[in-house]
Amino acid sequence: MKELEQIRTMYQHKNKDIHNLDTWNEVKNLFLGKNGYVTSCMKEIKNLDPKDRKSFGEAVNQLKNEITVLLDKKKVELENLEIEEKIKSMPRLDLTIPTQEECGSLHPVTIVQQKLIDVFRSMGFAVEDGNEIETEYNNFEAVNIPKHHPARDMQDTFYLNNGQLLKTHTSASQNRIMKKYGAPLKVIFPGRCFRNEELDASHENTFFQMEGMMIDKDVSISNLIYFMKTMLSEVFGKEVNVRLRPGFFPFVEPGFELDCSCPYCGGKGCKVCKQSGWIELCPCGMIHPNVLTMGGINPEEYQGFAFGLGLSRLVMMTYGIDDIRHLNGKDLKVLEQTKVK
Ligand code: PHE
Repeated sequence: MKELEQIRTMYQHKNKDIHNLDTWNEVKNLFLGKNGYVTSCMKEIKNLDPKDRKSFGEAVNQLKNEITVLLDKKKVELENLEIEEKIKSMPRLDLTIPTQEECGSLHPVTIVQQKLIDVFRSMGFAVEDGNEIETEYNNFEAVNIPKHHPARDMQDTFYLNNGQLLKTHTSASQNRIMKKYGAPLKVIFPGRCFRNEELDASHENTFFQMEGMMIDKDVSISNLIYFMKTMLSEVFGKEVNVRLRPGFFPFVEPGFELDCSCPYCGGKGCKVCKQSGWIELCPCGMIHPNVLTMGGINPEEYQGFAFGLGLSRLVMMTYGIDDIRHLNGKDLKVLEQTKVK
């Protein structure tokens, strides 16, 4: 019994020395192995006096259990330690490190278009999408440009084999939108347009416009001026003036070229406005009665204005881009400069 007590104390000391699986195995062998202390004591039982066997046997078993439990516990501790160590030595993934990847950003046309949409929405205009492939009817006839009308010459485009065409102006959506909404209506419809042009710094075969229409009872040129002035002041972030000059488009009567006082020099004259103090920005006018009629709206009852803002032009002005071809180009140096960070 005394020996058992010594073994117990010895184990308690040894238990503290176990730092890894090797020492764990050594200690286990030392006590529970074939010739281990505890095993040897068990072997002793049969040599004892029969009256002592039971109590000694129980005491040895108890010691064996105690040591087994402690060894098991130690093993779990060692295994956990090993896992922790492995985790520590693994390369760490730090999700908070800012990424070095190049991120894309919105195209300048999209940025300006979204700004315009915001302004018009705030004035109660709905936003519509137009087709890029259109019928000849929608692009020309429905806006009062019949076959053989000389105005068709100014808007030569790309025709498809099925007789349809790539729309030359956003006005091509006027008829469809009038039929969809009926009067009264307030709608803008931005879109990509195409023309068969000789390409140069200010002519491109693909460009963007933003068209708008307001149709109601008693709509007049004053409404047109008010909305254009408000919209342009919002876009440029400062009060601008507008002026109208006569302009001819078969689908408006009267038709105008709307100029905006140069927001860069305040009208004094600079490079952007070519020293004139004014920028030609937006053809517009009162919708021709024929166009209203073709759109299913009674011109005796309703009037309206329409405008076709040169979105590509506005983008070029906003960012000081001097060649329209950059807008469809892939020169990242240009796009980098308009990037919203
Ligand atoms: N669609 C015309 C163009 O592209 C512009 C315009 C729109 C003129 C609406 C008047 C009214 O040239």
